[in-house]
Amino acid sequence: MNRFVYFATILFQLSISSSSAKPNVGLSVNLFHRNSPLSPYYNPSMNHSDYIINAAFHSISRVKRFNSTSFQNKAAQTIATESKGDYLMEIFVGTPPKKVIAIADTGSDLIWFQCSPCKDCYFQNYPYFDPTKSSTHHPVPCEEVTCEYLDSYSCGRAKECNYFMEYGDGSTSRGTLITDTVSFNNTYLGRIVKYPSILLGCGYHNKGLFSPNEEGIIGLGGDPLSLISQIGHQFGKRKFSYCFLPYGSERSSQIKFGVDTQTNRRNLVTTPLVRKFPYTLYYLSLERISVSGKMLMAKANETQGNIFIDSGTVLSALESYLFNKLKTAIIESIGKEHVPERYPPRPFNLCYRRIGNSMCLMIVPTNDTVSILGSYQQVYFNIEYDLDKRTVSFAPSNCK
Ligand SMILES: *[C@@H]1O[C@H](CO)[C@@H](O)[C@H](O)[C@H]1NC(C)=O
Ligand SMILES: *[C@@H]1O[C@H](CO)[C@@H](O)[C@H](O)[C@H]1NC(C)=O
Ligand SMILES: *[C@@H]1O[C@H](CO)[C@@H](O)[C@H](O)[C@H]1NC(C)=O
Ligand SMILES: *[C@@H]1O[C@H](CO)[C@@H](O)[C@H](O)[C@H]1NC(C)=O
Ligand SMILES: *[C@@H]1O[C@H](CO)[C@@H](O)[C@H](O)[C@H]1NC(C)=O
Repeated sequence: MNRFVYFATILFQLSISSSSAKPNVGLSVNLFHRNSPLSPYYNPSMNHSDYIINAAFHSISRVKRFNSTSFQNKAAQTIATESKGDYLMEIFVGTPPKKVIAIADTGSDLIWFQCSPCKDCYFQNYPYFDPTKSSTHHPVPCEEVTCEYLDSYSCGRAKECNYFMEYGDGSTSRGTLITDTVSFNNTYLGRIVKYPSILLGCGYHNKGLFSPNEEGIIGLGGDPLSLISQIGHQFGKRKFSYCFLPYGSERSSQIKFGVDTQTNRRNLVTTPLVRKFPYTLYYLSLERISVSGKMLMAKANETQGNIFIDSGTVLSALESYLFNKLKTAIIESIGKEHVPERYPPRPFNLCYRRIGNSMCLMIVPTNDTVSILGSYQQVYFNIEYDLDKRTVSFAPSNCK
């Protein structure tokens, strides 16, 4: 097998405007890469090239699922995470609190995890959350308006609100919508903080491509069931930010809620969020890409909302018109003395052979008109989502 080295420095140029800062105490929670030694998901036997190949295939399945044509036809119920992403956070659910390690996913909304008594669940390494053992848990009645926040729901025998999530790869999660207290270890305060009555999915039937360490998913999307939509009012602003450390990092970074975090004003760029169905996704406008100073323009009449930023996809996927321009520009920029591999290892599109290594472009083409800015290209940026001002801002950061 080959080893891969990456083009990590190709950045998307986004349109620039300004924003103002006003610090307050919010919520800050540790965020770690699943392949960090700090992570319970850490798999020391998996080397970087295995990981990248897996990640690349995940990105590709995500692209398929987000095929925008099928969205129009199939309604919003297909909106859920598939590749699940690489960044994990820890929450504590119920009273007494039960620790749940779950994936931070800006590409979906529902916060869900496997629950006991699990009728049809995948194996997980930790005990399931048992809602009946939590004194603060309440099932949500299906006539409640909150039940309708779900893309796909039904009324159970006890009039409970049942959710159904279908994933592009055939994975499914079925369960009951409940409310319970969710607590976080707030690194700002050095103590546990509690938020009562958070809407949560208790999954009793879950199938598909899940690892035994994946207890659930924490949706951070733009719709009402997401964590940010539910706790944003606690801080007076629906705002969150994160800074992704790379694969194998030996420290954790933070995901922060309700605070202004862009301190590196000099290198800050801010771009508007584009409101576009499905409202879960954070759509931006990719206008151009710069390669060694050469500007590559996206199709001029189609830039509004032509890309979404996603923590749950690893590699970026670029619509093929712009991808082909990018590929050509990179080949030109690298120069004739280096010849791209004629048969790059699947699923990559552009690789160069080095002594014993392949060096591959960490962006893949997609036939969809919507591109994805994946987490690989977000590493070492502080990225702040402001759902009230409807902006996303980027500043280079060491994620300290
Ligand atoms: C990575 O692991 C695979 C098998 O899992 C192996 O074939 C390959 O040689 C390893 N690569 C390196 C660079 O260790
Ligand atoms: C997108 O979905 C449409 C309709 O379901 C399908 O015809 C098309 O082949 C899909 N495109 C891709 C790239 O998967
Ligand atoms: C909360 O975080 C602090 C500092 O990182 C740690 O010492 C403590 O054990 C954590 N508490 C829990 C319940 O995990
Ligand atoms: C954008 O322009 C191209 C050709 O210039 C055309 O084929 C396409 O339909 C246009 N798209 C929209 C959304 O107007
Ligand atoms: C895009 O579509 C073309 C023609 O239908 C196909 O050959 C190619 O494999 C597709 N590319 C991707 C990335 O799906």
